[in-house]
Amino acid sequence: MVWRATVLTLFPEMFPGPLGISLAGRALASGVWALDSRDIRASATDRHRSVDDTPAGGGPGMVLRADVLAAAIDATILPQDVPRLVMSPRGRPLTQARVAELAAGPGPLIVCGRFEGIDQRVIDARGLEEVSIGDYVLSGGEIAAMTLIDACVRLLPGVMGKLCSGTDESFSDGLLEYPQYTRPQSFEDRPIPEILLSGDHARVARWRQAAAETLTQERRPDLWAARPKPSESARKRKPPKNTTDG
Ligand code: ADE
Repeated sequence: MVWRATVLTLFPEMFPGPLGISLAGRALASGVWALDSRDIRASATDRHRSVDDTPAGGGPGMVLRADVLAAAIDATILPQDVPRLVMSPRGRPLTQARVAELAAGPGPLIVCGRFEGIDQRVIDARGLEEVSIGDYVLSGGEIAAMTLIDACVRLLPGVMGKLCSGTDESFSDGLLEYPQYTRPQSFEDRPIPEILLSGDHARVARWRQAAAETLTQERRPDLWAARPKPSESARKRKPPKNTTDG
């Protein structure tokens, strides 16, 4: 079965949008993955086709109704093991590890919120996993869903080809990626670091590792503190020189 993202949204015309272009777009056109965007409003039952209402307890904005969204979810016939996500700034932050898990599965159902939020009862009753793409607020979940789908699609077999396996990049080993350079050799009096032109693969690898570690320490102390430590077996083979920074 092909990896399939099923998106529930009030704006199905936003899809595939950027997902129809470049790497993800070519993979979509060639059938490596499939996209199904469905209009939540199609599940509205009143004559105004209303999908939202004022928040219980008062306050600004409108809330997506539980009954309409539940009907939209229930109308999507999907296998039992399909992860059911809802994009929300209140969700658990998306990580490369979760992206890799989602890419390895059948593909998620993704609910895109709008307005002030979604009635909590449908999140609870349908077991939706709330996912955030960062600590800022978008005007809706669609761009967040596209971000998640794009991150997954590039990991699907055959999408990135032989050029890049997805293993030598930011977050794959708990570090930010080292800086890259290409021609010209000198740009505005800035030469490419000489080691990268040496042809000595071991020295290049050491330079890149050190650069990735320095960048991560400077920019993302949270990632640095949480980076994978050498395994017990690796430590037995080669004890670290400095045991305070194990
Ligand atoms: N919807 C609005 N803001 C969002 C965010 N930061 N992440 C996921 N979904 C959102």
